[in-house]
Amino acid sequence: MAPKIIIHGGFFSESLTSDEVKKAKQDALTRIVKSAFQFLETHSALETVVYATEQLEDCDLFNAGTGSQIQSDGKIRMSASIMDGVSLKFSGVINIEGVKNPVRVAEKLLQTQDSVLGGDGATLFARKQGFNYYSTETPQRRKEYESKLKAATTGTVGCVALDKEGRIAVATSTGGKGFEIPGRISDSATVAGNYANANCGVSCTGVGEDIVSGAIAAKIVTRVTDGLSLQQACERTFAELKPFDGFAGAIAISKNGSIVHIDSHPAMVFASFDGNRLEVFE
Ligand code: GLY
Repeated sequence: MAPKIIIHGGFFSESLTSDEVKKAKQDALTRIVKSAFQFLETHSALETVVYATEQLEDCDLFNAGTGSQIQSDGKIRMSASIMDGVSLKFSGVINIEGVKNPVRVAEKLLQTQDSVLGGDGATLFARKQGFNYYSTETPQRRKEYESKLKAATTGTVGCVALDKEGRIAVATSTGGKGFEIPGRISDSATVAGNYANANCGVSCTGVGEDIVSGAIAAKIVTRVTDGLSLQQACERTFAELKPFDGFAGAIAISKNGSIVHIDSHPAMVFASFDGNRLEVFE
């Protein structure tokens, strides 16, 4: 099986950001997808989605890890999850605080019985596992928060990978919407935003409430499992967002190596690579 990878970095809003930022996002996604592809050649899909998502979290252009949005009470709370399409194990953290890489905490939870933790419990688990305090706040996010500018509210990151053995895995990580009520739950650590099985993997970005209403990731994976092509499954699922003008994007890979990216509004930022063909959002 030829390995394949696709990553996303949320949405690009031309009205709120410049050509310079767009170019920086294109360059960052290109660098990360190529490095993650190289990693995928000698590692599993599961190891690779964590590796790629960690790099996306570390890039302050995106709303996950460093550069996460600030909530209405001035604090940053992040969410991340992983799903292994082979074991069907889903693990995640919801509203975790003060860790550099939430996806690495979710990775630790893959080995536990209680695999999705929220709030203080997630943060305490991380500390017990040796994740030291780290502030993911950046001056740009503080400036946006202070000016009450609800910019780039849809900047979740994610990765889907298919490895040489035909195994699929997916990871998604977010700083949330920005200005949300403390306690709000993101889609990124739910099966609406992040889901995989042996047939297909999907990571979503956009407005979490709309992604949950559309049950997007789980629905696309189910439709592919029931026989639809990946393109048909994505199109049908996104058509179901139209009645409520759902705002979402998704990246997906199926077991036959098809790669699809889809968004309901302009424009999700993404990059995919298979060793030869590089596709980057324009
Ligand atoms: N999709 C990220 C969020 O709404 O929290």
